[in-house]
Amino acid sequence: MKGEENMPLVPAACLLKHAQKNAYAVPAFNFHDLVDLQAIITAAQAEAAPVILMASEGTIRFAGFSYIEGLASAAAREAKIPFALHLDHGRELDNIVKSVRHGFTSVMFDGSHLAFDENIRLTSWVVDVAHRVGISVEGELGQIPGAEDDISVSAKEAGMTDPGLVAEYVEKTGVDALAVAIGTAHGLYKGEPKLDFPRLEAIRQMTSVPLVLHGGTGVPDATVRQAISLGICKLNVGTDLRLAYTGSISLALREQEIHDPRPLLGIAKEAVIEVVRDKIRLCGASNKAHAI
Ligand code: G3H
Ligand code: ZN
Repeated sequence: MKGEENMPLVPAACLLKHAQKNAYAVPAFNFHDLVDLQAIITAAQAEAAPVILMASEGTIRFAGFSYIEGLASAAAREAKIPFALHLDHGRELDNIVKSVRHGFTSVMFDGSHLAFDENIRLTSWVVDVAHRVGISVEGELGQIPGAEDDISVSAKEAGMTDPGLVAEYVEKTGVDALAVAIGTAHGLYKGEPKLDFPRLEAIRQMTSVPLVLHGGTGVPDATVRQAISLGICKLNVGTDLRLAYTGSISLALREQEIHDPRPLLGIAKEAVIEVVRDKIRLCGASNKAHAI
């Protein structure tokens, strides 16, 4: 890939291996439409960084596989940085198969709600299907809660990734990356999130697959950096982009009457670009694109 003008969609594993070797994390962003997508690609190009574009099952319900595929292939023609198209938190096997057929280069099978053996059984099936066509698979062990979920500290701990199960899970499933539950949550935090770093270190001892941190919004920068230094190779961020998108539009509409969506969406795009560039720098991913 070195020296090529255009860099196509690549499997996430290719990006994650480079990040692991070079002690940074690949930032992974949830997107929903053309505005998000252009903002992420523009920011990644400005930073010369690899990125992962993530579509959740909710986004697929909203936009549909064909439109997502079309947007990503347009980005692949335009972009000069390598990126992956990833299914985020895939729970329906049907969506995994459709992702494979619609140009995704990575899928997450989220079996975190299942019993351990069932999680292994279904994740192995997903790995088998995806690997046949060179697509990467991210698995999840433990449960990453919603920040809004009112759960006690002991319940939170019970849902965290058990390092004792990691080696068996990775070995039996063959996943390329593992999402870990170590104290982050999806959405906005009520207080400052406390990450269980000894647990992350124990997990790291058990496997060499790249580790993934979900719930990247609202985690202090120093905490993210420490997590990366302890083996996190992919940082998932969603809510921060949505806040920038909707917040910038609300503000603009409060300040002036605008009846043309283009200037409004342009404002949103600029706001999302800023957030994405910040996260790319935080991950240490700037200037890594052309070395991959
Ligand atoms: O899978 C997506 C991420 O974990 C997003 O989390 O919305 O809290 O940044 P976030
Ligand atoms: Zn997540």
